[in-house]
Amino acid sequence: MRAQIAFNRPLSSRYRHLGILAPGFPCAFAAGQFVMVRPPFVTDPFLPRAFSIYRLSSADEDAPVVELLYQVIGKGTQRLSRMEPGQRIELLGPLGNAFAVPESLDTPVLVAGGIGVPPIAALAAALAKRRRSQATGAPGTAEGCPQTIRVFLGGKTADDVLCVKDFEAAGATLAAATEDGSLGARGLVTDLLEPFLRGARHPATAVFTCGPLGMLAAVARLAEQHGVPCQASVEENMACGFGACMGCAVEVRAEGAGPRYKLVCKEGPVFDSRELVWR
Ligand SMILES: Cc1cc2nc3c(=O)[nH]c(=O)nc-3n(C[C@H](O)[C@H](O)[C@H](O)COP(=O)(O)OP(=O)(O)OC[C@H]3O[C@@H](n4cnc5c(N)ncnc54)[C@H](O)[C@@H]3O)c2cc1C
Ligand code: FES
Repeated sequence: MRAQIAFNRPLSSRYRHLGILAPGFPCAFAAGQFVMVRPPFVTDPFLPRAFSIYRLSSADEDAPVVELLYQVIGKGTQRLSRMEPGQRIELLGPLGNAFAVPESLDTPVLVAGGIGVPPIAALAAALAKRRRSQATGAPGTAEGCPQTIRVFLGGKTADDVLCVKDFEAAGATLAAATEDGSLGARGLVTDLLEPFLRGARHPATAVFTCGPLGMLAAVARLAEQHGVPCQASVEENMACGFGACMGCAVEVRAEGAGPRYKLVCKEGPVFDSRELVWR
């Protein structure tokens, strides 16, 4: 899909907020889905890059603005950071599966590390919308409405803790941890999560998480220890985004002989954390 940059603003020295005006893009998405993005006529890097959808906006339903948050880390994101409003960009999506919130859940626990936050912020917004619909008595929404949204955010410094205002707007109860202590508690986000999960009410609690692999593995381990279901959105290097290149395979737990793999782009990026082999 040929789209164009609507805005591309810095959030801080390393993070940016990108809006892509995308005629024909669906006017709804599910939290956890992603898009593949590539500047046209660029050969270095040649492959598109994957980004979670943060939110959709626009007055015009035929041409929504797909909003992404991204960290500038390598050639692809550096090139993206130099793009100006009005420039053409290639966009493919929405792709992948999404977080599935069980109807019986009353305490969703959202855990994000660094730039893992966009799909988690999207999930908080969706849960808040569900709660508002219930409060206004919209038909068919009384079931499966979360009472409390708990959010745990982690980062190296305060600069790496994004979307705080979004979570506040969603009415979430928020706790943050930074490694240098510049925001919230000093330490890791799992230091805050562990005591919370120890006291969690079962079976009405479930964890939804996205962030660096080490954090995901630690969150998955804690959730399993405390018997709390956990869905993790996993990031892998992706070349195509739709199941053609096999480049994004992750190992899943197998009962029989030999390893078994799933494709993050098609069967993920969200997995039940107990399904994955964490290293
Ligand atoms: C489903 C999905 C959703 C994502 N959502 C976001 C998002 O919302 N915001 C965001 O900033 N980033 C997101 N990413 C990661 C993003 O795709 C990479 O940061 C981006 O591809 C890096 O491109 P680059 O050319 O700048 O860096 P490269 O030069 O390609 O890589 C720089 C370094 O980052 C590593 N790297 C590259 N891609 C990934 C990756 N996917 N996972 C882990 N390490 C990687 C490389 O191994 C290398 O060490 C997502 C990835 C996936 C798969
Ligand atoms: S990115 Fe090509 S198969 Fe998943």
